[in-house]
Amino acid sequence: MAIIIKSHREIDLMREAGRILAITHEEMKKAVRPGISTYEINKIGEDVIRSFGCIPSFLDYNGYPASICVSVNDEVVHGIPSKHRILQEGDIVSLDAGVIYEGYHSDSARTYGVGKISDKAQALIDATKQSFFEALKVCKEGNHINDISEAVYNYITARGYTAVEALVGHGVGANLHEAPEVPNFPRGRKGPKLKAGMTIAVEPMINIGTHEVEWLDDDWTVVTADGELSAHYENTILITDGEPEILSRAEGIDL
Ligand code: MF3
Ligand code: CO
Repeated sequence: MAIIIKSHREIDLMREAGRILAITHEEMKKAVRPGISTYEINKIGEDVIRSFGCIPSFLDYNGYPASICVSVNDEVVHGIPSKHRILQEGDIVSLDAGVIYEGYHSDSARTYGVGKISDKAQALIDATKQSFFEALKVCKEGNHINDISEAVYNYITARGYTAVEALVGHGVGANLHEAPEVPNFPRGRKGPKLKAGMTIAVEPMINIGTHEVEWLDDDWTVVTADGELSAHYENTILITDGEPEILSRAEGIDL
């Protein structure tokens, strides 16, 4: 599949999708606390998205049954919100969301601690987030996808973590998933060259133990094979002829 270079108009639409997505994450973040169900977090996120007249990217995507992926502890990604899944003090929770604004997607994820969490869990969350920013430094026209993969991989493996290999980042635009694939580990080839106007979702999925994952019987929830913690951090970014631009952000809201 060819990599689609976006026009200024398309980028403007994606920037607005990203702004709304950042506001959505901010509202969900405020709601994360012991005692809340993952269903309620999904509802808050979906309501914010719809309040802007937008559509949640994930709802019904390949049959996914909710708007927000809510993944707790050893759940890596694609956790299905449930009224019966109540967040507990000490949990970590990854919230992955997408917004469609006038036909264009933005995709981003954050991982938060629930109440007081262990130093070990906080260190994983911090390293996962920082690995994204390490990758961002090499998101420059003329570099290759593998430079992103190595930036994430080298940062997290130096700290004793592992990168999930069964799932990868991706191009994003009029479709949630477009070319190219953006792995968080080197594949032994340079991969496509980065060009101005490419829009990609860079999304480290980082584990404390093995990189191996399994799927639960719901056919969606991806969990670590050893039951250890996993964290996720993602932004939709624009490659330019200078510094990259994070599209999934909003003025006054922390990344
Ligand atoms: N955010 C996920 C990704 O980056 C997409 C979720 S898959 C869905 O690929 F089915 F839940 F939408
Ligand atoms: Co994504």
